[in-house]
Amino acid sequence: MANPTKIAFLDLVTPHQELQEELLAVVKKAFSNAGFIGGPMVEDFEKEFAAFCGAKYCVGVNSGTDALRFAFMAAGVQPGDIIVTVPHTFIATTEAISQAGAHIAFVDIHEQTYTMDPAKLREYLETRCEVNAKTGELIERASKRRVVGIVPVHLYGQTADMDPILELANKYKLFVIEDACQAHGAQYFSKKDNTWKLAGSMGMAAAFSFYPGKNLGACGEAGAATTNDPAVAARMKMIRDHGQAKKYYHDIEGYNGRLDSIQAGWLSVKLRHLANWNESRRNHAHRYHELLAEAKDAIVIPVEASWTKGVYHLYVVRVRDREAFQTALAEAGIGTGIHYPIPLHLQKAYENLDYKKGDFPVTERVAAEIVSLPMFPQMTNAQLNEVAKKVKEFACARVSAVR
Ligand SMILES: Cc1ncc(COP(=O)(O)O)c(C=O)c1O
Repeated sequence: MANPTKIAFLDLVTPHQELQEELLAVVKKAFSNAGFIGGPMVEDFEKEFAAFCGAKYCVGVNSGTDALRFAFMAAGVQPGDIIVTVPHTFIATTEAISQAGAHIAFVDIHEQTYTMDPAKLREYLETRCEVNAKTGELIERASKRRVVGIVPVHLYGQTADMDPILELANKYKLFVIEDACQAHGAQYFSKKDNTWKLAGSMGMAAAFSFYPGKNLGACGEAGAATTNDPAVAARMKMIRDHGQAKKYYHDIEGYNGRLDSIQAGWLSVKLRHLANWNESRRNHAHRYHELLAEAKDAIVIPVEASWTKGVYHLYVVRVRDREAFQTALAEAGIGTGIHYPIPLHLQKAYENLDYKKGDFPVTERVAAEIVSLPMFPQMTNAQLNEVAKKVKEFACARVSAVR
């Protein structure tokens, strides 16, 4: 039987206890004027978060899923249009595509970064699609559907390789909407523009989740979309609020998808700590890299490509004998997770897409071997050492080399 957990996979209690007074002050402020929906706390947070992401606008919504869905709708997606993404992500990415009325197409990930492989994207666009000479639209040959957009997912806190993705999008007139739900503050070095850019500032729009366990987490459900395009921002604001820009004047049907003002106030408090928390995560990741380097024949540690400065939402290693590995760590009282065990193209929910095992071999290999180790800003050196010690013990004794 597993020991009671000594090192949790994630500690959400400590940061909230540390910030308790400031967080409670937000509730008191909201109670003083009963401004629970909209108002200055939401507007202030939107300005602060847009600035943090290097984007012009931020639209607060009630989840990352809605941020994605509203961004697709604001981009003008029509029923049956294809949006291309990766099968190695949380299902919310593709739920939002379907809920916006679009059709999902997958391309595989890169073996080292676990994000969209631009070469696979190019292959899909160039061999499976063709440009209609009359309309200039990109059409998937087999289905005759219009391909309209690309969703790179900045998974585990590291951005996808955006330059080649944006170049392809530009060539084929596709929108790019970043799924930045795990990447608040992650950076990408654009060789093209010779500058570092922030997640959330590179596509037509980007989606962030503030689910409690994220790098910036609410105390409940919340999310936001960022964009540099005023028309897209205005459209997303309407969509989140029943299709109205003026009360009771509904230009379109929308959703009840607003961000609560108390959540916004809490997010503003936490946003002031985010840069430090991200720095702590990076330091912890580098410590793990050093400590686990000795076990590299048995454990594949995360690779940070030269073009990314990750914020380590998760620290994900690969091992062959995953079940035994997780059991050994659980017996030592160490929590772990798997993000995500079943690739989306093999999920029951997507049987109708007619993908099969073997279609995305990199995703399938990765999904069978990944394990997320404890990672949160408040981790101590002693905890990092202890996790690394147990990982190395297991690696030496039981795990055969991955490659
Ligand atoms: C990659 C990714 N996309 C989308 C989402 C959806 O965010 P939310 O849970 O806030 O709806 C998440 C959150 O778990 C995520 O990790």
